[in-house]
Amino acid sequence: MTVRRARISGCGAYLPARQVTNDELALSVDTSDEWIVQRTGIKSRHLAAEDELTSDMALASARLALEQAGLDPADLDLIVLATTTPDNTFPATAVRVQAELGMNNGMAFDVQAVCSGFVYALAVANNFIITGQAQNALVIGAEAFSRILDWEDRSTCVLFGDGAGSVVLRADEGRGTSDDRGVLSTHLHSDGRYQDALYVDGGVGATGTIGHVRMQGREVFRFAVNKLAEVVDEALDANGLTAKDVRWLVPHQANRRIIDAMAKKLDLPPERVVYTVERHANTSAASIPLALAEVAADGRVEEGDLLLLEAMGGGFTWGSALVRW
Ligand code: UT7
Repeated sequence: MTVRRARISGCGAYLPARQVTNDELALSVDTSDEWIVQRTGIKSRHLAAEDELTSDMALASARLALEQAGLDPADLDLIVLATTTPDNTFPATAVRVQAELGMNNGMAFDVQAVCSGFVYALAVANNFIITGQAQNALVIGAEAFSRILDWEDRSTCVLFGDGAGSVVLRADEGRGTSDDRGVLSTHLHSDGRYQDALYVDGGVGATGTIGHVRMQGREVFRFAVNKLAEVVDEALDANGLTAKDVRWLVPHQANRRIIDAMAKKLDLPPERVVYTVERHANTSAASIPLALAEVAADGRVEEGDLLLLEAMGGGFTWGSALVRW
C-alpha cells in the first residue's frame, strides 16, 4: 500500500543586509554583550531596512527555494505563509508573494502562530498534500519583528531579528512507514490561558495601533522547556521512533539555553543540533526555515536523515514535526 507524503524538495533563506551586534544595541539601551550572550547565546541579528517588508523577504527566500526545487511558480498550487508581522492587516502577505511570483492559480493564505508559525504552516501544507488537495506547496516563515519591538525595553528588544525562510513541499509516494522520505508527522498545541505571558499590546481591535511585544521571559522559558520536551516525545512515539533515531534537531531559535535543554533531553551532541540563534537571534516564524536552508545549503543534512523540528511561541502555541530528508 502506498500513502501520500510531502517531501521537502527545496529551501531558501533571506536575511536583511544590516547586521547589528550586541555592542551596538548597548549604545542605546542599558544592556551588555556579556548579559545577552550569557542569557541567550545571541551575538548579533539582522534588521530589515526601513523600506523592506515581510513580503519582500518572503519573496526573496521563496525564489531561492523554488530554484532549488526546480519548480516554476506556475507549478505551485498552495502558499502558506507564517508571520506575525504582515505587511498590512489584509490582504494576507501570502497573496502579495503569490502576485510577485506570478502564480495565478491555487491558493495563498497566512497562518498566525507567532514563533510556532512555521511548524503550524508546515502542518497545514502537509495536510493539504496528504489529503490530495495540493501537489506542490510553498511554506514560508517571514518576519519583520523589529517593527513591533519596543526599542527602549531591554528585556525584549535584544532578543529578536528579521528574516525569511521558505521550503517547497512536493507530493510523493511512501509506504506509510517511518523510513519514508518527507513529513512523517506534525503535532500542534495551543493554550490560550497563557496569552498574557507573551503578546503585542496593540492591534486593530485593541488600540488601533501596531503595539509592541511584551513578555514575561521566565514564564515563557519554563513553559518552553516543559512543553517542548512533551511534544518531542509525542512526535517520536507516534512514529515508533526514539531519540537515537534523530539525526538533526532543528529547533526554533529563541534562546540557546532552551535549545541546549532539548538537546540534552534527546542526548544529542551539539554537532547534531542546528544553531543559528547566535547570528540571527529570534526571528520568530522564520527561524526554522532559515535553519533548514542553512543545513541544506552546506550539505550537512543527507538523504534519509531524520530531522526533528520543534517550536514554541505566543499564545502559547507549540508544536513539532518529524521530517525524513
Ligand atoms: O520565541 C518565543 C519564545 N520566547 C522565548 O522562548 C524567550 C524565553 N525567555 C528567555 O529566553 C529568558 O527568560 C530571557 C532571555 C528573556 C531572560 O533571561 P532570564 O535569565 O530569564 O532573565 P530575567 O528576565 O529573569 O532577568 C534577570 C535580570 C533582571 O534584573 P534583576 O531584576 O535581576 O535586577 C532583568 O532586569 O536581567 C535583567 N535584564 C537585563 N540586563 C541586561 C533583562 N534584560 C536585560 C538586558 N540586559 N537586555
